[in-house]
Amino acid sequence: MLISLRHINKIYTTGEVAVHALDDLNIEIEQGEFAAIIGQSGSGKTTLLDIVGCLSQPTSGEYWLHESHINKLSDSELTAIRNRQIGFIFQTFHLLPRKTALENVQLPLMYAKATHTQQQDRAQELLTRVGLQDRMQHHSNQLSGGQQQRVAIARALANRPALLLADEPTGNLDSQSGNEILTIFDELHGQGQTIVMITHDPLIAQRANRRITLLDGRVLADESTKSPTQPILQEI
Ligand SMILES: Nc1ncnc2c1ncn2[C@@H]1O[C@H](COP(=O)(O)OP(=O)(O)O)[C@@H](O)[C@H]1O
Ligand SMILES: [Mg+2]
Repeated sequence: MLISLRHINKIYTTGEVAVHALDDLNIEIEQGEFAAIIGQSGSGKTTLLDIVGCLSQPTSGEYWLHESHINKLSDSELTAIRNRQIGFIFQTFHLLPRKTALENVQLPLMYAKATHTQQQDRAQELLTRVGLQDRMQHHSNQLSGGQQQRVAIARALANRPALLLADEPTGNLDSQSGNEILTIFDELHGQGQTIVMITHDPLIAQRANRRITLLDGRVLADESTKSPTQPILQEI
């Protein structure tokens, strides 16, 4: 099992109001799955993804990623896991605007202490992989939304993460660019990449092999279409 969430609760306390954003949540996700998290606004999707991405800790419950009991780790261990094992893709891309596409993709490799040559080779390979071989020297604010999201995918894959997390990755894109992003996800999934993607769009959720529906911080439905692809992670 790649991800195991056991009796997860997340309570936000703001002033005198406590919001039970995740309520005794239990989810397991295997390596190689492409899971969509769906549910209405406020149902806890982003809170869940933040916990899975080690960006925040649950109020109670256990989160295991591979063999690591995430709740027991120090901040520096969590930083290392986020850098090495998790790739993030956000609705609004979150690229550094004054840096080139190449530099944006090199950044996580730099944090992982790759040599400059290794950073360049890997970043070029990934940008080619997402179809941006002729945009490597463009600054990210000179790229279209769809191109920026492809840079973000390349950046997310830089350190060959076990897990790719995406929060509404096509939410800011026109339908054609969105489709190109989903096609890349399909290919990555076909190569064995584990993907967890939030979406509110049922058509997009159909692209995943599993749909987990949240309501009020609990799992309302959990449905799989295809069996997960071969769990062998190829070189991506
Ligand atoms: N930082 C926060 N502080 C207080 N309440 C929060 C915070 N983040 C989310 N919430 C509340 O938790 C619930 C779940 O939010 P969220 O996970 O963002 O849902 P979704 O992504 O499904 O829209 C909502 O009621 C929201 O208002
Ligand atoms: Mg959200």
